Amino acid sequence: MALTSARALFVIAAILGVSLQANAQLSTAFYASKCPNATNKAFEVVKSWIVKDRSMAPALLRLHFHDCFVRGCDASVLLDSTVANSGEKDAGGNKNSLRGFEIIDDVKAKLEAMCPGTVSCADILALAARDSMLVFGGLNYTVPLGRRDGVSSFAWEANNNLPPPFADFNMLMSLFSAKGLTTKDMVVLSGAHTVGFSRCSTLQQRLYNFSSTSSTDPSIDPSFVPILKSKCKFGSTGIIMMDQSKTTDTWDFNYFSNVLKGRVLFQSDDAIKRTAEGLKLVQAENKAGGPFTADFGASMLKMGNIQVLTGTSGQIRKNCRVVNK
Ligand code: HEM
Repeated sequence: MALTSARALFVIAAILGVSLQANAQLSTAFYASKCPNATNKAFEVVKSWIVKDRSMAPALLRLHFHDCFVRGCDASVLLDSTVANSGEKDAGGNKNSLRGFEIIDDVKAKLEAMCPGTVSCADILALAARDSMLVFGGLNYTVPLGRRDGVSSFAWEANNNLPPPFADFNMLMSLFSAKGLTTKDMVVLSGAHTVGFSRCSTLQQRLYNFSSTSSTDPSIDPSFVPILKSKCKFGSTGIIMMDQSKTTDTWDFNYFSNVLKGRVLFQSDDAIKRTAEGLKLVQAENKAGGPFTADFGASMLKMGNIQVLTGTSGQIRKNCRVVNK
């Protein structure tokens, strides 16, 4: 028994050691000598896009999430499919849904002009997520750098690793814990749904074809159902803002109060309060002047470290959409 627990401790320490080491390879000063103006330039380019269309900030935040959850933060989500519909971009949760690729291309082109072959697409994604939300308003956190770019992208991996909108608590937790993230990370990061929008097509099943006993998901607040149905009619191809509690899209903790009231868009949003642990976390984040933004930054830092390629692994792509020849 003692030997077993000692072994278990050793394994845990070894795992922790490896992950700490991996994190230690990223550094906020990574480009300080290689391309001193890289992070300023990336900020400037992202800012110019967000000033024109602030709805692109949530899109860039999501792009980084969808990158990190599929073979780590290696910019695999940016690769164009080489065989029709084979890459991550073409996976169910991504196709006709992810936005912002042209912004990443623009940042990349300008950084390549300044410092050829130096700044990875994976780092650009991480910076763009933070910088866009900084310009959007209210969110800021540190982004360590030094990720390198992967060379493969598979739709089936995205299908298996990205949480679907119908996920229940267990499914969410198995997908997040597979990435080394905790229940708190899962709850806090779901708070990203305080901004941005969804396609109405994503809500069709929950609103009109839920189950054999109830055409609409009974977990939705009954007074919220007509609102959702008027904004997303049967068969609608329109869009709907994630946070229906306000008219302007802002970074705030409203999402958690919407979760508690049953006034959220997806079953996955509703699911985060469906265990005692989840409920406690949702309640803790639902506070004016509370921990949400700081907690979100801390969880983004962890998410941005998932399975990063560093050192001589991978490559620095010249064009984020294609692997170097
Ligand atoms: C917890 C599991 C999650 C599920 C099931 C989920 C699912 C979704 C779905 C279905 C959409 C709408 C897609 C569409 O209709 O086109 C969406 C949008 C969005 N998600 Fe999530 N998401 C999750 C977690 C996250 C996380 C961790 C982040 C960021 C850290 C995030 C950020 C966003 C943003 C910002 C949008 C709006 C995008 C836009 O305006 O273009 N989501 N999510």
